[in-house]
Amino acid sequence: MNIAGSSAFVTGAGSGIGRALSLLLADRGARHVVVADIDETAAEETARLIADNGDRAHALGLDVTDNEALEAAIRDTAATHGLDIMANNAGIIGGPPAFPAMTMPRIEQMIAVNLTAMIAGSKFAIEQMQARGHGGAILITASRASLVPSWADPVYTATKAGILMFVRSCRELAAECGIRINAICPGVTATGMLALTGGDQAADWLKEKMSREGIMTAEHVAGIGIGLIEDDGKAGDYALIENSAPIAA
Ligand SMILES: NC(=O)c1ccc[n+]([C@@H]2O[C@H](COP(=O)([O-])OP(=O)(O)OC[C@H]3O[C@@H](n4cnc5c(N)ncnc54)[C@H](O)[C@@H]3O)[C@@H](O)[C@H]2O)c1
Repeated sequence: MNIAGSSAFVTGAGSGIGRALSLLLADRGARHVVVADIDETAAEETARLIADNGDRAHALGLDVTDNEALEAAIRDTAATHGLDIMANNAGIIGGPPAFPAMTMPRIEQMIAVNLTAMIAGSKFAIEQMQARGHGGAILITASRASLVPSWADPVYTATKAGILMFVRSCRELAAECGIRINAICPGVTATGMLALTGGDQAADWLKEKMSREGIMTAEHVAGIGIGLIEDDGKAGDYALIENSAPIAA
């Protein structure tokens, strides 16, 4: 897919990997990028960074667990600008207390954001792309945790494993209607999410993991996601991204 001239929608676009994806899509010449985040101020900052570069973005305050709002936002975007690329990226990690002390509302929220909303965002985008009959690309931000069990946060790993299997199971969409869905599976990446694992700083288990595996930049991870969007041969695939661009060893 040629990103130049495309219309894209990114969730969790107010920071970290979502912001980096949004900026790279704009850099590659996307005609219009919807940058959606539950934190509207953060989404506005991403849109401003894109506008400073002379490109077009629309900031949207959106909770991806609100199915009606998510569907309406995707439908309105498709009606106004078309929809070629959907990046389901918003995600949350478990903070203290860890499982099993983790509260049921927190467990349900993690499943809602990391699994249900990613499936819902894909469904709504696929329906809009199919209605326009010209295919498209969907990118899911899964995780290295999709593939590697972790007692440190088993709820997070369960959601990320689930969404990766969803992606792999959607391979046939490409042959059926030209819509390719792929996932990035990053290892530890320097974003605001890391601090939440310990409350206000990285949890001890994460600090140990970071010193063992290193830590990557959001830009590096997003760049590999952009590659999956561009590569017409990728469908139902995932890229495991590990420690190839550490910013601290
Ligand atoms: N940072 C890592 O080490 C790492 C590793 C693997 C995968 N990931 C995944 O990358 C994705 C992006 O996370 P990040 O690392 O950039 O962290 P981040 O905290 O910087 O970004 C996540 C963004 O999602 C937004 N968000 C949270 N809940 C939302 C909701 N209900 N609706 C809309 N937006 C919401 C947050 O406001 C935030 O801007 C997540 O899916 C995460 O699981 C991160």
